[in-house]
Amino acid sequence: MKPVVIVHGGAGRWSAVFEAARKKGLDITEERIIGGVKEAAMAGYRVLANGGSAVDAVTEAIAVMEGSGLFNAGVASALSAGGEVLMDAGIMDGLSRRAVGVLCLRYPKHPIRLARLLLSKTTHVMLGCEYADRLAMEYGLEKHSGPHPRALAMYEWARERARMGDERYSGNRELLERLGLVGDTVGAVAIDSRGNIAAGVSTGGTNYKVPGRIGDSPVPGAGYYALNGVGGAAATGLGEAILLASLTSRVVGYLEEGLAPESAGRRGLEVLSRLTGGEAGVIIIDSRGEYAAVFNTEAMPWAVVKDGIVEAGFWRR
Ligand code: GLY
Repeated sequence: MKPVVIVHGGAGRWSAVFEAARKKGLDITEERIIGGVKEAAMAGYRVLANGGSAVDAVTEAIAVMEGSGLFNAGVASALSAGGEVLMDAGIMDGLSRRAVGVLCLRYPKHPIRLARLLLSKTTHVMLGCEYADRLAMEYGLEKHSGPHPRALAMYEWARERARMGDERYSGNRELLERLGLVGDTVGAVAIDSRGNIAAGVSTGGTNYKVPGRIGDSPVPGAGYYALNGVGGAAATGLGEAILLASLTSRVVGYLEEGLAPESAGRRGLEVLSRLTGGEAGVIIIDSRGEYAAVFNTEAMPWAVVKDGIVEAGFWRR
């Protein structure tokens, strides 16, 4: 089996990210974002090329994006309306059909490393709050250094546009989309040389979210899903819509019915739009190593490595 890894750097309104970054004099450009997803995909591919597992490739690819300061995950995680870093992540191993989602984290710099660690240490599926943070600390994971300039720029961008008052805590859909979906979540899917498949995601959640709000990212079947012999998918976009549409389990279900990755992704997004009116993106690999990156947002940076060759995309055509 030829190994393949595909990553995304978050679906959403990247024009707003670039606008907010420019205002603050931050060096966050389309070229750097494309460079970031390519670097992440190459990191995942190196694991696979050295005989490593799909789960470890997904972890390393996501850790690169979490550490880059370019994406809404890890060090540059979006801030809540209360100005806090509150991160979610999840990973699924298609071989064991087990998943771990970690949620509402403040401590680790790399939430995906906590999810990966817990995959080998527990049979629980979801762990959250200060208890999960404590585990990250006890296992000696690197500590998050607090709000990053990218996150602060996006926070201020949102605050200028928010109608102040309780409304920001109401989960108002239009407000969430206007302020929140501005380059969201990172994710990866991989198939290794033994045909094992894995998928994972990591996020700071929606920009200016209600503190305590949890999106799709820690939830298997919503933010990520993987089954050996079928395929894997990782989602990005408005978490409320992805959760209500069970997007990644739906897309993997379409692969099981025999659809190609591109058609499975498109059908999943059609259903999500019909059910929720929301926008999202999804990256997919099937058990033959065929892949797709599909989205109905303005943009979704993505990169794939197959046969050692890297390919990338950004804007909706
Ligand atoms: N897709 C990430 C979130 O909504 O939190």
